[in-house]
Amino acid sequence: MFIRHLVDFNDLSLAEWDILFDTARDIMDNPSKYMKSCEGRIMATLFFEPSTRTMFSFQSAMLRLGGQIIGFSEPKNSSVSKGEVLKDTIKVISGYADIITIRHPLEGAAFAAAQECKDTALINAGDGGHLHPTQTLTDLTTIRMEKGRTDDLTIGMCGDLINGRTVHSLIKAMSHFKNIKFYFISPANLKVPQRLLSMLARKGYEYTETESLEEAIPHLDILYMTRIQRERFTSEEEYNRSKGIYVLNREKLASAKPDMLVMHPLPRVDEISHDVDDDERAVYFKQARYGMYIRMALIYHMLNSPTENVPLPKLTDTDAYCDNPRCITNHEHYLKPMFARVKSHPDIRYCVYCEKQYKN
Ligand code: CP
Repeated sequence: MFIRHLVDFNDLSLAEWDILFDTARDIMDNPSKYMKSCEGRIMATLFFEPSTRTMFSFQSAMLRLGGQIIGFSEPKNSSVSKGEVLKDTIKVISGYADIITIRHPLEGAAFAAAQECKDTALINAGDGGHLHPTQTLTDLTTIRMEKGRTDDLTIGMCGDLINGRTVHSLIKAMSHFKNIKFYFISPANLKVPQRLLSMLARKGYEYTETESLEEAIPHLDILYMTRIQRERFTSEEEYNRSKGIYVLNREKLASAKPDMLVMHPLPRVDEISHDVDDDERAVYFKQARYGMYIRMALIYHMLNSPTENVPLPKLTDTDAYCDNPRCITNHEHYLKPMFARVKSHPDIRYCVYCEKQYKN
């Protein structure tokens, strides 16, 4: 059995991650073996937010597997511009396609969409500042291909760590591996959300928060740079206070280990200077290509294996609502709020859509 929907990296077991990685490697070595494996199947790419890598790598992946693609990259070219709600769009498209990939600016949108897909597979291609599980698959593939392991690593994450969905998904994923140490490098207003720090503490992982890239860099096996995301700030002034705060250049790289990987989910703005691109430690363009192969592996298994839904957590009986303004439940008003409790901390309640936590 394989998962029917991928909303969160944690929907996958580690055994399934191993299967995906092995399949991606086999696809790299034997692409012709898979050329017709999704023949006659259709993927819909529903991108309510801009994308280069995720959308095109999914489309390229499906075409390389022999399937076909439909979709939009601008919601204004769909009936969303006439006020159609997400539920109706998904119900209709799930009758046209075998697999849907969705990117949406609101947190929890992919989870809400998955509830409407009974038989059609659905993949979260990024939901607001929340999660981006196939970027995490891309990142883990890069780490395993380039380092040969996903255990025993010190990883530094630098930039906008509060809004960075790639960072959030990667922290969750790395917390499944052994002997991982984290350095979180950000200004005070862009720190990793408390819920993720609490999760790491509960699981016994060591982490250091710092504002200094220079201080952290000599300790790292991997430096994961991220962009300060203009689109997630509520005002231009606030964005201007944080933009350009971190720039990795050759001078800073000089104090890094000779085999440290420089990764970035891309797009970059100015946080890695172009003179770093030729350094053999810079793997971000390779990383984007690995993303296509691991997405091929994911589509291949979701469309060619018997699948089952990831079970919902045990819901808490409450008439509360989520106060996160970026949670999908505050925009699509037919959605019934859902809350569950953190297993190890039953006093903490969280929104099942966006994972915002509440103490009670
Ligand atoms: N890494 C990533 O998600 O890039 P895109 O926004 O271009 O898809």
